[in-house]
Amino acid sequence: MRRRGIQIMKINPDDADVGPSIVRFKFRLAGNESLKKVQTMAEDLARDLALPGTPIIDNISRSTFAGIDIPRERSETIPLRPLLDALGQPGPAELPVILGKTPDGTLIREDLADFPHLLVAGATGSGKSVFLRGLLLSLLTQYRPGNLELLIVDPKRTDFTFFNRLPYLRGGKVIVDGNEARTALLELARSEMQRRQDLIANRSMRMKEFNQRYPDEAQPPIVALIDEYALLTNMMDKKERESFEQDLMILAAASRAVSIHLIIATQHPSAEIVTSKLKANLDARIAFKVATNTNSRVVLDTPGAENLLGNGDMLFRRKSGEIIRIQAPFMDEMTMMEYLKQIG
Ligand SMILES: Nc1ncnc2c1ncn2[C@@H]1O[C@H](COP(=O)(O)OP(=O)(O)OP(=O)(O)O)[C@@H](O)[C@H]1O
Ligand SMILES: [Mg+2]
Repeated sequence: MRRRGIQIMKINPDDADVGPSIVRFKFRLAGNESLKKVQTMAEDLARDLALPGTPIIDNISRSTFAGIDIPRERSETIPLRPLLDALGQPGPAELPVILGKTPDGTLIREDLADFPHLLVAGATGSGKSVFLRGLLLSLLTQYRPGNLELLIVDPKRTDFTFFNRLPYLRGGKVIVDGNEARTALLELARSEMQRRQDLIANRSMRMKEFNQRYPDEAQPPIVALIDEYALLTNMMDKKERESFEQDLMILAAASRAVSIHLIIATQHPSAEIVTSKLKANLDARIAFKVATNTNSRVVLDTPGAENLLGNGDMLFRRKSGEIIRIQAPFMDEMTMMEYLKQIG
């Protein structure tokens, strides 16, 4: 960096964070040096350092450091199982989910109920389904059937078959058919939402307080997961699609009060699929590796996700706009089948 004219303070290698998939070297910029200038030379630094791709360079939030993320020669897989075992009892109306670990080793656990919806985007093979299954496993570990309902839409018919017989499913199965998926989502948006709204409106409170006050009538939180949203909307014509989106958005806007949460995943983070209307209602967003910086902007409102490494390497954008790099944990299919047998 100095050779390229950047004024930086002396780097202490001990400041570096050795994360599961990257090493984050931390540096402080001198005087009125700007981070933008360093970021624009990321490709040149990649060549100087003989890196396999362009490194992500950014401020490290809540510190005076900036960081340059260098991929490790061999990344470490983070096993999901021990993280699930360490989950405690959720607080009232909380839906704690494990996202993964930051480069400094911090475990990121967030409350899905607080999001209250999540957008997950990434190119094929970037780690979306593995991650989404992990989210579901987090929830299944903490909630007994009856206390949580899941609506799983898997138009690709591959990644969620293991969940098929679980006693948590609305409609009794993982939905793979596009028309069935649309019907189920519209039922959620039109009747179930309405039913819940009526229930709480009569006693003028939110679902959370309602459940505490009237445990006998408690309504379980519902998490609706759509893996490959584009496959669902692509089968509709323009008018159907707009009306479907409208329904989803009405649901999204009201759902915090009625404990219905959407997780929408897509391989195609283009502005046509992830419309501004959809985005406006999905405050919490995750980008796995995407193809272009335009894709990254659509998801995160900033470039960067095009330089992620794949295999569960992600950028998580909080509601506040803060973005952190996280490595998602992993569980192989055999272990998952065993695990589901135990809890199902
Ligand atoms: N967190 C992870 N840790 C280690 N390896 C991972 C992780 N996530 C994904 N992988 C590897 O990447 C492969 C593809 O992941 P996954 O099926 O989740 O991709 P995807 O984004 O859902 O792709 P598609 O859009 O094609 O469905 C996995 O089979 C696994 O080998
Ligand atoms: Mg997938």
